Amino acid sequence: MPKIYDGDLTKMFDLSGKKAMIFGGAGGFGEKIAEGYAANGVSVCISSRREDALKEACAKIQAVAAPGVKVCYFACDAGDEAAVIACRDFVVSAEGLGGCDILVNAQGINKKMWSWEIDTAYFEAMLHTNITSLMLTCKYFGNWMKDNNLDGDEFVPYEPGQPNLNKGYGKIINFGSVRSIRAVKNGGGGNVPYNTTKGAVEMLTKAYAADLRPNIQVNAIGPTITYTPMMVGKLPPDEAARNAIAKDLPAMRIGYEIDVVGPAIFLAAAASDMVTAATIYPDGGLVATS
Ligand SMILES: NC(=O)c1ccc[n+]([C@@H]2O[C@H](COP(=O)([O-])OP(=O)(O)OC[C@H]3O[C@@H](n4cnc5c(N)ncnc54)[C@H](OP(=O)(O)O)[C@@H]3O)[C@@H](O)[C@H]2O)c1
Repeated sequence: MPKIYDGDLTKMFDLSGKKAMIFGGAGGFGEKIAEGYAANGVSVCISSRREDALKEACAKIQAVAAPGVKVCYFACDAGDEAAVIACRDFVVSAEGLGGCDILVNAQGINKKMWSWEIDTAYFEAMLHTNITSLMLTCKYFGNWMKDNNLDGDEFVPYEPGQPNLNKGYGKIINFGSVRSIRAVKNGGGGNVPYNTTKGAVEMLTKAYAADLRPNIQVNAIGPTITYTPMMVGKLPPDEAARNAIAKDLPAMRIGYEIDVVGPAIFLAAAASDMVTAATIYPDGGLVATS
């Protein structure tokens, strides 16, 4: 039971000692969240496919980490089931973090394709990376969280076709997007594939929250357009020109990577224990006003 229910309000946002697995952890959003967690006492394992990018990101995360925090990586394709199982086994081992109570899914790909030119193979690759890989990580890390950290509860063996009755403890944060619930106006901008995958993340998040209840909260973050490596070449290189895209929105700018870190800390902390199956939109007001 979180300390806040015992009246210790200083624990509401206290993440120290927690263990986070971050897929897409060498990417724009994933790495910033890893830095935010490590600076607040969370040991982190980051994962994506390119080992050189993971090593570089680990050095940056380590540079801001609080004393005693462990930073490590596991290179794999999050859409490969055997690799996700191997990653989970590494993370919960003593060589990794020795457990996991926070899972962040910040992996993803995005290619703009107009409806008449959609490349079916790439469309399916987007479904696989942006949806199937989240199903796999939530399955293997989410059920590990249910079977462990039981706080003294007895382990209940699985029955085929029946819900997992174990209680466990954990937080899962999936990356949706403003494009989970908003198409792009004035023609859609070639976003049929991306919109489709992000809409699915919204529903996958709600369904996993129902499946992994009651002590594992599953939520999503839905950022607005942000100049991460994913958006290089899709947005103007000039910062003022990029922000001008959003001049009509309440925030009058597009996002910065740091904008998702506050929500990621909230959704990993005891402060959000009654928040589940929800999406937080750090979007400068986009979904409310467009
Ligand atoms: N930037 C935006 O405007 C924006 C807005 C809303 C939502 N989002 C979402 O936010 C999340 C993070 O995006 P980002 O902007 O931070 O993009 P990013 O900088 O390109 O990071 C994406 C990360 O995902 C990894 N990745 C891609 N395919 C993978 C796979 N099959 N297995 C494992 N890792 C894989 C990439 O590394 P490797 O290539 O080395 O595997 C990279 O580290 C994505 O889900 C994205 O759709 C982005």
